[in-house]
Order: sequence, then C-alpha cells, then structure tokens
Amino acid sequence: MGKSKITVVGAGNVGATTAHIAATRKLGEIVLIDIVEGLAEGKALDMAEASPIYDTSQSVLGTTDWAATAGSDVVIVTSGVPRKPGMSRDDLLATNARIVKSVSEKIAEHSPHAIVVVVCNPLDAMVHVAAKTLGFPKQRILGMAGALDSARFCTFLAAELNVCVEDVKCVLMGGHGDDMVPLPRFTSASGIPISQFLSVAKIDELVERTRKGGIEIVNLLGYSAYHAPGAGAVKMAEAILTDSRHIISCCAYCDREYQAGGYFVGVPAVLGRRGIERIVELNLDAAEKAQFAESLAHVKALVAKVDALL
Ligand code: LAC
Repeated sequence: MGKSKITVVGAGNVGATTAHIAATRKLGEIVLIDIVEGLAEGKALDMAEASPIYDTSQSVLGTTDWAATAGSDVVIVTSGVPRKPGMSRDDLLATNARIVKSVSEKIAEHSPHAIVVVVCNPLDAMVHVAAKTLGFPKQRILGMAGALDSARFCTFLAAELNVCVEDVKCVLMGGHGDDMVPLPRFTSASGIPISQFLSVAKIDELVERTRKGGIEIVNLLGYSAYHAPGAGAVKMAEAILTDSRHIISCCAYCDREYQAGGYFVGVPAVLGRRGIERIVELNLDAAEKAQFAESLAHVKALVAKVDALL
C-alpha cells in the first residue's frame, strides 16, 4: 500500500486536515496542492515538522505545480470557498462550480486513472460538475458527504445512549443538504435497533440535529467544519486504496438504482479498488421513499442550475 499516491486539492482547513489524517493513516505518498503560493508548501512543512514527534513516516509534499500530482491513485477535491454564517451550501454554487471545473481539467490531464473524491459544496452538484469535466467512468467519481453526515448521526446517538461510538452504525441517504435522509430504521448499536432504546420523538430530534449538523458548526466557529469532513474523506480513500469493501454512504451515480434517473446522490455503497464497487439498494418504506424523492428533487434542481451556469 506504500506505493499509493494521493493528491489533496486545496490546502485550506479541509484539505490540510485531510492530508494530515491521510499521513497519520500511512495511506501512501501524499501531495497537497493549492493555487496560493506558499500555502500548501507551508502546511506540508508544518506537518513534516510534526513527524519526528508523532511519526507519520509519510511525508506530505506541498506544491502549486500540477506536474507533482501526476499518476495519483486517488484525488480528493476540497478546493472552493466554504460557507459563512447565514449562507446555505447552495449559495456557493457558481464560485465553486468554476473552481471544480478547472481543477477537474487538471486531474484529467495529470491523473487520468485516478478515483476522484469530491468534498466541496454544494456537494452533489459539485460531483456532477467534476464528472462532466473529467469524463471518467462514473464508478471512479464519488462525493464525500454521507461519511460525514452518518458520523454526526452516530456521534449524537452514542452520546444519547451513553455507549461506545464505534458500536453505533447508521445509513444515511439523499443530498448533502437540510433534507438529507438519515434512516433510523437502518440504525443500530451493536445490532440492536435504536428504536429499542429511544422514543420516536428523541430519534426525530437527533435526525434533525444531524440535518443541521453543518450549520451548527458554522454558527459556532464562523466558518465550516473540517475535522470530521477530513476524516470522512480519508475513510473513503482508505477503503478504496486498501480495497476494504466497507459500506459507506457516499454520493454516487445512480441511474436505475433508487430510480434516480442518472444523478449523483447519497446512497450506501461498497467501496473498493475500483471506486464504487456496488450500490446497496435498500427496501425503503413509503415515508423513506418520499423523503429521498424530495432530497433528490433538490439535487436535480441544483444540477439544472449549475448546468445553466457552465
Ligand atoms: C458540513 C459542510 C462542510 O456539513 O458541508 O460541515
């Protein structure tokens, strides 16, 4: 696995955190690239200087030169502007679409065989822009949102249940917006359905907190989250590079799956060396289907908007 090469595009909070976590996980050679002179170089140097203290054994190369990214196995795209208080993820559409388009052109040129994990917002529309620009097989284009949103749901549940957070597993679908669809029926603590522990009202409260999890952080910090998003991106990269076949909720291309009709949207998927190895189709009940349809409609509207812009 030491031979793998990962490029992280964007050396802001999410990108630098992603590179750092990837280095501690010893995922391979890591390149951190940013358009701002000195930014990726400075953050990479800072990480290198931490390595004698906590040995990561993996250096991170900071650069502004796309040639250094050549032949990456996985490229994680974090570049773009983050949201500020009062902004929705959708408010970032035009600016980030232009950035994702130009970054995707560079990826296609330098790493034509890479698996690309998009992290910037509005997530589902940005994955669409990347896919359109890259022209790669859809299996190799993914978005990171479900890993983060599920982690938030699991965190809140574990705290409420006062159990080990690793025991809590959930499935979450739909777009990365306020209408995302956490699925309590598919959520358990060591196999015990959460309905055995919690009232419907309490579960609804935690679902709502999960849906608003991003803005909760923005309101506290004045800018958006990066530790959990970075961890989510690395979890996906690790599953891909180690061919672990973990089932992770991620933004994946769905055509007949969930009758999505050719859109990238959040669904549970098996991740492995080829990217999306398989989409897991759940037997949703009527209420869950309706929630997913509403979230998908929002994704479709954003995609139409971004297509009109580019
Ligand atoms: C969040 C942003 C990064 O959910 O979308 O925190």
